[in-house]
Amino acid sequence: MTRPDIDGAAGLDEFIATVRELEASSAQLLSRAGDVEALAEAKRDSLGKRSKLAGLNAVLGKLSAEQRREAGAVLNEARSRLEELASARSVELESAERSRRAEAERVDLTEVLARPSGAPLGAFDRRRGHLNLVTQTRDELEDVFVSMGFAVAEGPEAETDWYNFEALNMPPAHPARGMWDTLYLKLGEPETVLLRTHTSPVQIRLMEAKQLPIYAVMPGRCYRRDTPDARHLPVFHQIEGLVVDKGITFGDMAGTIEEFTSAFFGEGMHSRLRPSFFPFTEPSAEFEVTCPICGGSGCRTCSGSGWIELGGCGMVDPNVFEAVGIDPEVYSGFAFGFGIDRLAQVRQGLPDMRALLDNDIRFLTQF
Ligand code: DAH
Repeated sequence: MTRPDIDGAAGLDEFIATVRELEASSAQLLSRAGDVEALAEAKRDSLGKRSKLAGLNAVLGKLSAEQRREAGAVLNEARSRLEELASARSVELESAERSRRAEAERVDLTEVLARPSGAPLGAFDRRRGHLNLVTQTRDELEDVFVSMGFAVAEGPEAETDWYNFEALNMPPAHPARGMWDTLYLKLGEPETVLLRTHTSPVQIRLMEAKQLPIYAVMPGRCYRRDTPDARHLPVFHQIEGLVVDKGITFGDMAGTIEEFTSAFFGEGMHSRLRPSFFPFTEPSAEFEVTCPICGGSGCRTCSGSGWIELGGCGMVDPNVFEAVGIDPEVYSGFAFGFGIDRLAQVRQGLPDMRALLDNDIRFLTQF
């Protein structure tokens, strides 16, 4: 860039006129800059060390002391107006740049959903999402039980000690409470309100309503103080079953579970019961189903046994009937409960349950 050619002339008016001209042309240059790089260049040309404006500093020295004061002030003011203009333009350009980038990087999830295999190209490219595998499994379980004559009921996820423990034959400080890693809520007296550790409290709510007989399943979310790993989630789902009627036997329970197993898993799949303990049933059992991975011949998933444990069950304990005011001399019943996430895991052969929560679209679209 060449020096301004006012050397020698040095008149104050001429100096001021040159400053004004330079300010006007620089202002135009700065405000026309279309992006951040162009602005940096315009700034260098208008205000940089080798700019015409900077060249005027040298000219100042040739003016008289009095003229120099006025000329210096004019020059400085012009310079700071241009600097302000440059930084305002910079803010504008950066924000435009940000929106441009956000727009370019925006991910439209409906665009990345895979086309189901066999669908014609383009037909499903903007397919809507679908229910999570756990929700699909819950819906399917409900359908199977409804077809067997059961009703579907629900209860709250925040429960009182009475419903989650006490009415289920676990009085305060009962050691069996240790089977559940309970999360208490800061509500009321300490350790009186909690996130339910199982769906069994809904049994109590149904029995208290005393609309007998009861044939119901109760699906829902449960919470335990568990560290997530391949087979545990601190927030998970269970489905509870309850039958209360006159003359209900252990045989009815075994038959119902067997019926459910073949209806849900398909022909050739069976169930078996093994003695166990739960405070709210007597006798209690664990129920197992044919391992769906190997069909019963033994594999890694079932540790070679051919069976997979699904949940617990048993005959409703007379103490539970007494807690809700049902006469155990007149009525009897059975209950069962198992994990829905675990069931989905076993049925689909998922190595790690945490995949259900990862929201990885490549995983989710497989179901
Ligand atoms: N509530 C039990 C649990 O979470 C499972 C269970 C066992 C439910 C036996 C029942 C039952 O209804 O009869 O571990």
